[in-house]
Amino acid sequence: MSVSTFNTALELAANRVEGFLDATLPASDNTIAEGMRYTVLNGGKRLRAFLVMESAALHGISADTADPVAATIECLHAYSLVHDDLPCMDDDDLRRGKPTVHIKWDEATAVLVGDALQTQAFQYLTGVTADPSAVLRLVSSLATASGVAGMVGGQAMDIAAETAAAPLTLKEITALQALKTGALIRWSAEAGAVLAGADTTPLRTYAEALGLAFQIQDDILDVEGDAEAAGKRLRKDEAAGKATFVSLLGLKGAKIRARELVDEASAALAPYGESAENLRQAARYTITRAN
Ligand code: IPE
Ligand code: IPE
Ligand code: MG
Ligand code: MG
Ligand code: MG
Repeated sequence: MSVSTFNTALELAANRVEGFLDATLPASDNTIAEGMRYTVLNGGKRLRAFLVMESAALHGISADTADPVAATIECLHAYSLVHDDLPCMDDDDLRRGKPTVHIKWDEATAVLVGDALQTQAFQYLTGVTADPSAVLRLVSSLATASGVAGMVGGQAMDIAAETAAAPLTLKEITALQALKTGALIRWSAEAGAVLAGADTTPLRTYAEALGLAFQIQDDILDVEGDAEAAGKRLRKDEAAGKATFVSLLGLKGAKIRARELVDEASAALAPYGESAENLRQAARYTITRAN
């Protein structure tokens, strides 16, 4: 399977989740609902939605069943970005090529849009038509992956590291990034297996390596990426004193580590054989992408 097959599959997943979100998000009859639509429907690579769709397909779960699961993770992820961009966090004015929510409206609106997207995410999950015990497992694991033992915990470590007396160790940065970015990516990749009641081990191993590679590439792009392609401000991490693989290993070391992780991710898919080729391409894409 070629890179172009992967690109087509990513585009299809993006179009699909955007169509579903557009049809089901609350109508823009108040500022918060308008902000939710502005945030979720304004681009983004839709990598997490793609992982959900591929994981579902690998386990014989239909795309119709997977739609609300993909919408769930895109809302949860979008919420994390709205809050990540707030002045008290990374203080960014641009996201996906457009003004961030607190710039377009104000900080209170951005906090509330993030809150509402988080609850919207769980709302979508409750509407998944599958075995209720599998849906419950998705709800529970998403709560864990999003909260203090997941994304929020990683964000807190990221902020704390900015003012820490000593730079983080490799082990600490790995743990930070596994929570900050890895937890939601892992949830996405495992979702199809969870819905099917299948073993999640291969996809977990894949996603742990992929998630780390993904955040390493985000950190690399912050240093040497093109801001227009990225659609967000770059060259910010070092000035903010962020702990990243680049700050610890240097650019070259970070790139080597990212490539190793992509190989690890691909190897973990061996039990799925050829049918996981799109996911292998997705792993390569995470470290070759420009945005
Ligand atoms: C950006 O995520 C934040 C990180 C976790 C590094 P993405 O790079 O997936 O952002 P979008 O969804 O494509 O805009
Ligand atoms: C954001 O990481 C991670 C989450 C939102 C959970 P970054 O702060 O590095 O993401 P960008 O660079 O702003 O997209
Ligand atoms: Mg941040
Ligand atoms: Mg940020
Ligand atoms: Mg970044």
